[in-house]
Amino acid sequence: MPKLTIDGKTLEVAKGTTVLEAAQQLGVHVPRYCYHPKLSVSGNCRMCLVEVEKSPKLLTACSTEAAEGMVVHTATEKVKAARRDVLEYLLLNHPLDCPVCDQAGECGLQDYYMEHSRAKSRFPAEDKVRRQKRRPLGPHLVLDNERCILCTRCVRFCAEVTKTAELEVMERGDRSFIDLKEGRALDNGYSLNIADVCPVGAWTSRDFRFKQRVWFLKKTPTVCLGCATGCLTEVHHNEGAIYRVMPRPNAETNTWLCDAGRMVYKAVQAGDRLAKGVIKNGLIELEPALRETASRIDENHAAAAVLGSPWLSVEDNAALARLAKDALKTENFSFDFNAEQGIKDGILINKDPAPNAAGARRVKAACGGLSFGELAAKVASGAVKVLVTEARAAALLKNELKAGGARLIVFAANRSEIPQGAYATLPYANYFETPGTFVNFQGLERRTVPAVAAPEGVRPLWAMVNRLAVYSGTSLHLDSAEAALKGIL
Ligand code: SF4
Ligand code: SF4
Ligand code: FES
Repeated sequence: MPKLTIDGKTLEVAKGTTVLEAAQQLGVHVPRYCYHPKLSVSGNCRMCLVEVEKSPKLLTACSTEAAEGMVVHTATEKVKAARRDVLEYLLLNHPLDCPVCDQAGECGLQDYYMEHSRAKSRFPAEDKVRRQKRRPLGPHLVLDNERCILCTRCVRFCAEVTKTAELEVMERGDRSFIDLKEGRALDNGYSLNIADVCPVGAWTSRDFRFKQRVWFLKKTPTVCLGCATGCLTEVHHNEGAIYRVMPRPNAETNTWLCDAGRMVYKAVQAGDRLAKGVIKNGLIELEPALRETASRIDENHAAAAVLGSPWLSVEDNAALARLAKDALKTENFSFDFNAEQGIKDGILINKDPAPNAAGARRVKAACGGLSFGELAAKVASGAVKVLVTEARAAALLKNELKAGGARLIVFAANRSEIPQGAYATLPYANYFETPGTFVNFQGLERRTVPAVAAPEGVRPLWAMVNRLAVYSGTSLHLDSAEAALKGIL
């Protein structure tokens, strides 16, 4: 456990800790470009130079191990001058793109230039080395080689995290540039993390480019519902529209996000978003749709059944359980989902594409009900005449519904989710619009936080269930998400 002193403060750190990490433990920020806590140390940008007593030269803090008795200074005149020189060097060939660059506002070059340099360039703009700009590489990214400072974070990400190693540094000296290896494509399923790790605007997201200045974005911490991993995310939005989803690194689950998870938000703004009910194939206003649905359920009251959904929150599943038990007064309901879970690619993506099988099982533990197999058998035999469920969960009983001929009533957020043959569809607010509790494959409880408003008139699923029960002549008293959760968590 070496003990060292940084800017007059002494601390003890674990063996192997670098000077940069030790400074971080003290709350001292050492500027860096190539260093990333989840990638190997490359020590190429020289931005983290610090003064170490008894060392003849400045040392890179990211690649220097803390040693017993070391005395480090991070803010001397010598260090500040070195930072200015490094910035001048990095900016020599950097284009004057800030006004049109998507990284502006969150760019490492802009930030450190303002903090450490503010020097006027001594280099004539016309002598800058020109490199390729706007190169679409892979389905999600555009590369601007002129903006690159050759920190190699992107190269190391592909070599060390996805282990696909598609990128490399070509040429030497000021002709160096990042390129895709011959015959390779940048489609490793995690490519948008490259835009995140790039400290400048060299890699930009095709989806986000030119859509919004970053300083206008509001940030809402929430959870990805793209699979059972349940990565923590941050939704960036402005004036009711979502522009991007970023990772919220945490020790339990994720540093990165998969590309598919980042795109889940698209469904919120998709053209097929449901704001009305659908009876057979026709759109109708919400209240008549609820009334019609309730009377179809009442008609088959004795043979109605409810299937929860691993795509719904605990609150919404709990409301469906109340509908079955207290309004329909049936034992024909199931919240039993046992898909295989676990990380399937060694990085993040889960074997289970649904986010909340574990949460639905908590509803089962509190409310009982049939096993999935028992309900499936009843549906297949024709004993169930009407089934209420969520659109994606209905697909789990596709064959049984065909065999038994039950009338299908589903909740769906988008028209594309509606299963073929559904009799009635009711819209609901999705989890970018309403709070919900989810339990990931590790058993961790996580809550979504609404970032944008639902389409006018569209309410959370628990509230839609409450209305449906009223039309059937029962009050479930579900006037809040907490009321739905009572006795479950
Ligand atoms: S493209 Fe970005 S991440 Fe890659 S080397 Fe250049 S500056 Fe670094
Ligand atoms: S791994 Fe799953 S939870 Fe994580 S970002 Fe991808 S889809 Fe979302
Ligand atoms: S951060 Fe240390 S050399 Fe780049």
